Amino acid sequence: MKAILLAGGMGSRLYPVTFGVSKQLLPVYDKPMIYYPLSVLLMANIKEILLISTKEDINSYKRLLNNGTQFGISIEYKIQNHPNGLAEAFILGEEFIGKDPVCLILGDNIFYGLDFTEKLEIVVKRTLSEGRGTIFSYPVSDPKRYGVIEYDDDGNALSIEEKPDDPKSNKVVVGLYFYPNSVIEIAKKISPSKRGELEITSINEYFLKGKKLDVEPLNQEFIWLDTGTLQSLIDAGQFIETIEKRKGIKVACLEELAFQKGYINKKQLIQSASKMEGTSYGNYLKNKYCK
Ligand code: G1P
Repeated sequence: MKAILLAGGMGSRLYPVTFGVSKQLLPVYDKPMIYYPLSVLLMANIKEILLISTKEDINSYKRLLNNGTQFGISIEYKIQNHPNGLAEAFILGEEFIGKDPVCLILGDNIFYGLDFTEKLEIVVKRTLSEGRGTIFSYPVSDPKRYGVIEYDDDGNALSIEEKPDDPKSNKVVVGLYFYPNSVIEIAKKISPSKRGELEITSINEYFLKGKKLDVEPLNQEFIWLDTGTLQSLIDAGQFIETIEKRKGIKVACLEELAFQKGYINKKQLIQSASKMEGTSYGNYLKNKYCK
């Protein structure tokens, strides 16, 4: 299983903050936003990742994440020249994906939930063995901003609409998607939407109509955070701060996850920690693992 991590876009709702820096590099409390979706990929045991960003920003991501060896994974990079939509990722990533199934995760989505790792492992296995796609639904108060799922009375998904004026439910599609390899050909087939983009929703509709899409609900206790506006960015930072301080943990601590998975050894972890000495992130690693 390969994964594409999307960190494109203009971040225009955060101007002037994002005139000079890519949105997904902004801090969410004590680490860059991109760490959070990257941690989801580590949790899902996906080690081959393609990061797609704009030509202006791609080098900043390379500077931050290098080729991934510090986390025991491989990160490659690709430029998206024009904001042609999320689904273009599969066309840009065709060579990288090869014959494998693929996960797509959006660089500005934050997930936090207790049994998430188990859920991810099940979905990865299912995608590998059954050739079906999986998306996740989550109830929100403002569905108009997202892909919205329509259900029948038995709870089966009937349709998905991108940013509808009149949402058919409050259940929306989160920015984490799993597909079999056929997604590449489907991405080539779909037409741009009214706003001129290849929509991920068109891909999901395609799989849904072919009865090859599973819609997994993320329950009420699960936290899915948005970072699209300044207020939601501040709220996300405060949420992470509260959890980390209260529990004495770090959310999305990539070196820790990589160490727990056996992707890096203690020496590599200590090396990374020593580069960040004196920060809360570096001290956390040092105090927990360097004794
Ligand atoms: C994208 C998708 C939308 C999805 C959302 C999740 O929207 O198009 O279907 O619900 O991500 O974050 P965007 O945030 O790019 O407007």
